Amino acid sequence: MSIVILGIESSCDDTSAAVIEDGLLLSNLISNQQVHKEYGGVVPELASRAHQANIIPVVDRAMKLASKTPNDINAVAFTKGPGLLGSLLVGASFAKGFALAQKIPLIEVNHLQGHILSHFIKTEISSQFPKFPFLCLLVSGGHTQIVVVNDYLDMEIIGKTIDDAAGEAFDKCAKLMGLDYPGGPIVDKLAKEGNPEAFHFARPLPKGLDFSFSGLKTSFLYFLRDKIHEDNCFIERRKEDLCATLQRTIVNILIDKLVLASKQTGINEITLAGGVAANSELRDTLIKTGKQLGWHVYVPEFKFTTDNAAMIAITGYYKFLKGDFAGQDTVPMARLPF
Ligand code: KG4
Ligand code: ZN
Repeated sequence: MSIVILGIESSCDDTSAAVIEDGLLLSNLISNQQVHKEYGGVVPELASRAHQANIIPVVDRAMKLASKTPNDINAVAFTKGPGLLGSLLVGASFAKGFALAQKIPLIEVNHLQGHILSHFIKTEISSQFPKFPFLCLLVSGGHTQIVVVNDYLDMEIIGKTIDDAAGEAFDKCAKLMGLDYPGGPIVDKLAKEGNPEAFHFARPLPKGLDFSFSGLKTSFLYFLRDKIHEDNCFIERRKEDLCATLQRTIVNILIDKLVLASKQTGINEITLAGGVAANSELRDTLIKTGKQLGWHVYVPEFKFTTDNAAMIAITGYYKFLKGDFAGQDTVPMARLPF
């Protein structure tokens, strides 16, 4: 008998539903919330309301696209955390109701574990999967971590940010330049036209495998303030160079720590995950570094980098195989270590 998992992701501002059969992706729909654009960041209350409006149509379309009915689903997996509590509650409540109505198991998934296991989603183009143990550089809007992955559900964080996340550094610096939210993809695009050596920004490097990005943000702010003082069109004139330099700085910080982590652990299987894994320079630099150092590098398909329910469904699949189910009394959590 095949195992069909419905995955639900609602931790931030995207409502997503996916159907996976024996690890093979049948559908993965994401409804992006546009309401936050004019505020320059995600407004939690608006996010919860949009999830509420989106969740049923998104799940319905994901099942239809997969040619499955509720009776074909063997278990429902949802994001327990970390994330915005109001947003998580919508997905959790829907999943609980669905499990109860269908009399099927409920599976809770850690969002970060989901990002990491996105490498195991089978699609028509996937061919290679990382081998255990591997390292994952997990870079998103809320997290920056280096994780040793011993098995599907056995992971250990060996390095993390002590302040801002890499995605946050992209987004906050983009905001200082007057760019829209989220700034990461816009910086990526503008950087292609700029000179990455144009300027110099502070590169705080805390000891060991930890990261720090708040000093970079401050250095960027002071730099802009001084330049605007001399020329108030500075950002407009040099935004491509600013983006290219900023991006190069963030990528170098990430790659340097990953090289150190590989040296310290002796692990050469290297993966990248999370929203910032969509960044073109990070992907290219990782592949290039991997070639130089003899790593096996796995970069995720673009559609699995930012938040999506396919990664929740695949994690749900491995939990299903272990019989790791949740009770109806489970509650979502804004902060959730794994
Ligand atoms: O994983 P994700 O979708 O949500 C969280 O769990 O946080 O990550 C979102 C983050 C945002 O900070 C966004 O700016 C960043 O990923 N991001 C990028 C790119 N695409 C998304 N950052 C740099 N370059 C990109 N191409
Ligand atoms: Zn995420």
